[in-house]
Amino acid sequence: MSEVKQALAQAADAARFAPSIHNTQPWRWVVRPDRLELFAVAERQLRAQDPDARMLLLSCGAALHHAQVALDAEGWAYTVDRPASLAPDRPLAVVTPSERRPAEPEATRHLQMLQVRRTDRRTVSDEAVPETVLDELVKDTEEVGGRLHVLSRDQVIDLAVAVERAQAAEAADDRARAELLTWVGGERPEGTGIPSSALPTEVPLTTVAERDFQTAGTVQAGGGHDRAATYAVLYGSGDAEADWLRAGESLSRLWLSATEHAVSLLPFSGPVEVPFTREALRRMLGGAGLPYLALRLGLQDPAHTAPPHTPRLPATQVIEITG
Ligand SMILES: Cc1cc2nc3c(=O)[nH]c(=O)nc-3n(C[C@H](O)[C@H](O)[C@H](O)COP(=O)(O)O)c2cc1C
Repeated sequence: MSEVKQALAQAADAARFAPSIHNTQPWRWVVRPDRLELFAVAERQLRAQDPDARMLLLSCGAALHHAQVALDAEGWAYTVDRPASLAPDRPLAVVTPSERRPAEPEATRHLQMLQVRRTDRRTVSDEAVPETVLDELVKDTEEVGGRLHVLSRDQVIDLAVAVERAQAAEAADDRARAELLTWVGGERPEGTGIPSSALPTEVPLTTVAERDFQTAGTVQAGGGHDRAATYAVLYGSGDAEADWLRAGESLSRLWLSATEHAVSLLPFSGPVEVPFTREALRRMLGGAGLPYLALRLGLQDPAHTAPPHTPRLPATQVIEITG
């Protein structure tokens, strides 16, 4: 295999670590001799909870950013086109390497972080994330085109209300409930979905209620409360497919930087999935933009050991290497 093709295959492989809504991993890569193509996989879209594929696009954007981190760490210059098409035969994105360049030390660190990063649904430390770290996370998000709005105390209460309303709306929807059961709980040997081993044994005490996955987990929740946590909204200016894809790239960048600072990031996508709570989040932004994802940032509790990683689909199911 040529040097460039090998680098592209490795980048697609690194992208398997990316976070995705309910661990659906709704992406497929095609490695060509001179470029890497990313496609959406409609069969792994949450039709009831995510009918407009916003969460799918965020997830695919995170995978796209992971692939770029791998290329940066390997010292490749490249361009990224984002047709952002959801059609099965048209790519969401095309990454075309051009020449070698010095590897970026930050990317080397982020390549390590993407293997360490995970969603931790337990409570966080009693110590707040330092302002300097928050400022850096805001800056890192902006570098990839996203914006991060840190919520005031009052707005955190508004977020808690929006999350509960979204939760109630999805719980009252038979299709959404059935969909959740398909993707969450149990052993899940096929490599998708959220296994019980990634969920806490009991509901952690949090200011904003975590998503109710309707299934008990096996991760010891630990005591405490997330009183010291910071809540924020990732947002931007557009609602087109390409905007959501780019938002996923900034989510990945933010999450890798947070991991580097021992900050746990927990997404709350429920209020973005449900139209009327998405509108409530938009109002919270005061006209600055459109909400893509609510999230919690908190210093990892030093007493917690890392929960197991959620499984991933085998490379052969998500990466096709052409002749
Ligand atoms: C777009 C998006 C939305 C998500 N929404 C939630 C959520 O509402 N609640 C939650 O607990 N986790 C959420 N997650 C985290 C996923 O469940 C998690 O990334 C996936 O199960 C893979 O696990 P990992 O992040 O530990 O690798 C979300 C992730 C993404 C990318």
